[in-house]
Amino acid sequence: MTLNLLPMASQDLAWQVTRNESAKSADERAEILANPGFGTNFTDHMVDICWSEKGGWHRPRVQPYGPISLDPAAAVLHYAQEVFEGLKAYRHADGSIWSFRPDQNAARMQRSAKRLALPELPTEYFVDAIRQLIAVDADWVPTQDEASLYLRPFMFAKEAFLGVRPAAKVAFYLIASPAGAYFKGGITPLEIWLSTTYTRAGHGGMGQAKTGGNYASSLVAQAEAYEHGCQQVLFLDAQEGKYLEELGGMNVVLVTKDKRVITPDSDSILEGITLASILQLAQDRGYVVEQRRVALDEWRSGAAAGDIVEAFACGTAAVITPIAALRNEDLEIRMPEIADGDRVSLSLREELTGIQYGRIEDRHGWLLRLDA
Ligand code: PLP
Ligand code: COI
Repeated sequence: MTLNLLPMASQDLAWQVTRNESAKSADERAEILANPGFGTNFTDHMVDICWSEKGGWHRPRVQPYGPISLDPAAAVLHYAQEVFEGLKAYRHADGSIWSFRPDQNAARMQRSAKRLALPELPTEYFVDAIRQLIAVDADWVPTQDEASLYLRPFMFAKEAFLGVRPAAKVAFYLIASPAGAYFKGGITPLEIWLSTTYTRAGHGGMGQAKTGGNYASSLVAQAEAYEHGCQQVLFLDAQEGKYLEELGGMNVVLVTKDKRVITPDSDSILEGITLASILQLAQDRGYVVEQRRVALDEWRSGAAAGDIVEAFACGTAAVITPIAALRNEDLEIRMPEIADGDRVSLSLREELTGIQYGRIEDRHGWLLRLDA
């Protein structure tokens, strides 16, 4: 089964493709792909599409990957009018290349754009951009297990104008970066720092939008996490400081002994596509899904009583990574040590990646082929 999208190629966008004359050699590429890390190496090409108030979306291009020239007064550099997305291209055993629910990323980018007063890129253009990039950079999609090509679409205000209003000129770009595990330790359970000094977003703010400002505001808390030997930071709600929100770059899920999966519902967190998919897979297994306000106290007392047996982080980059502990100067919730084979989180991870890499039937129609 494949996703039912609007027309594959948009009729009114004529693509201009310029090949990179200094593309990496096959040997250079192989060396990068053997050990891709996360977010440090990029493919030979990128996509850009222009938008203007008068002309709408126009001039879609595939061009050599390289620096972008911007006027120093470009609005994004001053007022952070920017949104981005993150998804992956996976290579299946037969060599074909697939993406996972790209229509959901396109829709979320449209919601983010709306919040940031940016134009909405139609879903078919979004998917078309990915296909165009894969058409020239297909060799950059890794072949080994658990590696993928991370796709980073982004859009920003490029109009040179210092007045504070939505920009009349905007650029959409797509770049791609071969990716292995997001965390250095792979799926080793994470230590999470609980931030009580900083919040990420509040009611009516930009928390649901995937925009740089939310990540900028997380950095100082993330730095605090690193200082304390933690790999990620968990934020609480901005109003009462009592309820779980999300991690700096991932959603958070708790699992109970009586087969419930619990995850925060809030209008100030990112609606994760990995999360939505995992909740579906858990429901398919007979778990009861609870998406609601979740108090920090509920986690603390539930873990102490042995009712909450697992916690995990999930997102495109991290997939699913178990959480070993949540802590700060005043609190420590240490999750029980469980053998990997007994972890629901890792079994859900196996199922999700099985679908993404074509090892397990795609019964929900989540995959879209990119190279045909
Ligand atoms: N929350 C934040 C702040 C994120 O950056 C991400 C990653 O994109 C997620 C949640 C998970 O979203 P998704 O599963 O769509 O990647
Ligand atoms: C993603 O998972 O796509 C993200 O944007 C998270 C970021 C930490 C890389």
